Amino acid sequence: MSQPQNTFKLNDGVHHIPMIGLGTYNGSKVGEVGNAVKVALKSGYRHIDGAAIYMNEKEIGHALKEVFAEGEIKREDIFYVSKLWNSCHHASLVRKHCEKTLEDLGLEYLDLYLIHWPIAFENADPSGVTIQPLKDDNGEPILAPISIRETWQEMEKLVEYGLVKSIGVSNFNVQNLVDLLTYAKIKPAINQVEVHPYLSQPNLKYFCDRNGIILTAYSPLGQGKCDLLSNETLKSIADKHNKTVANVIFKWLNQRGIVTIPKSSNPARIIENFNIFDFQLSNEDMNNINSLNSNLRTCTPANFCKIPLFD
Ligand code: A2P
Repeated sequence: MSQPQNTFKLNDGVHHIPMIGLGTYNGSKVGEVGNAVKVALKSGYRHIDGAAIYMNEKEIGHALKEVFAEGEIKREDIFYVSKLWNSCHHASLVRKHCEKTLEDLGLEYLDLYLIHWPIAFENADPSGVTIQPLKDDNGEPILAPISIRETWQEMEKLVEYGLVKSIGVSNFNVQNLVDLLTYAKIKPAINQVEVHPYLSQPNLKYFCDRNGIILTAYSPLGQGKCDLLSNETLKSIADKHNKTVANVIFKWLNQRGIVTIPKSSNPARIIENFNIFDFQLSNEDMNNINSLNSNLRTCTPANFCKIPLFD
């Protein structure tokens, strides 16, 4: 990818990640996520964040094909991220599922591929073609005896094969990273976790900074599940800068050196969310936002399993 403005350099010293991207989870209505990707790319985004489990990579692939066909934006202009699902951690499945994602997207390589969660499930299909987990009688996914080490070593091979430029992780805590760093030949470039003013993750950020790992903030607006957008402190900072609360949150993340990937399928909000490059928060603004931390987590694995991963 050429080096546009507003990027952070990854720890290989070569690749750069645009500091704001479009999140694509939950685009449930057909056409919604494809349209969101087209609007985003046409309004300046150069970073799209997806995952196999979002079940929409084919639709995004069609949208990318249309955008590339128009000629103004080329493959190498964008930074595309996808994630390996929990039921695909076995050494024999990592390449297969990366290739499936690439096929669905119509891309020859990913800019970044992440292990979605530090947790492995048995695959429902003996040949591992599906991403559905094998479930027990209570409908709970069955844990697979696969270490992160086994999966990471296969992720490293994807870089060698030229299928992905960089690799990283998602939803890893400090302990997960400490262990991973004992054997990783390629250090994770990114750890993608929930971060917003009510969950500012100072300790994880401190550890990642010291180990050359960049944080990407998912659910920077708390998925709309908390009152972030009506928080008085954030509103007064937004009014002062003539910006929206969402803009202030993304700017606060970026000034901390954190990438962010707000999800929206609403064209006006997609454009609004990118409008953060013409103002600066003061140290006082930053400190006031930092003081809002209350360790409030809006995303847990509860929607796919009962493992209390963050407790
Ligand atoms: P919509 O897709 O209708 O815009 P998060 O990125 O924290 O997971 O939050 C995503 C949620 O926040 C979505 O429901 C999205 O709805 C909404 N959203 C995205 N951008 C904005 C914005 N600028 N203002 C208000 N809500 C937003």
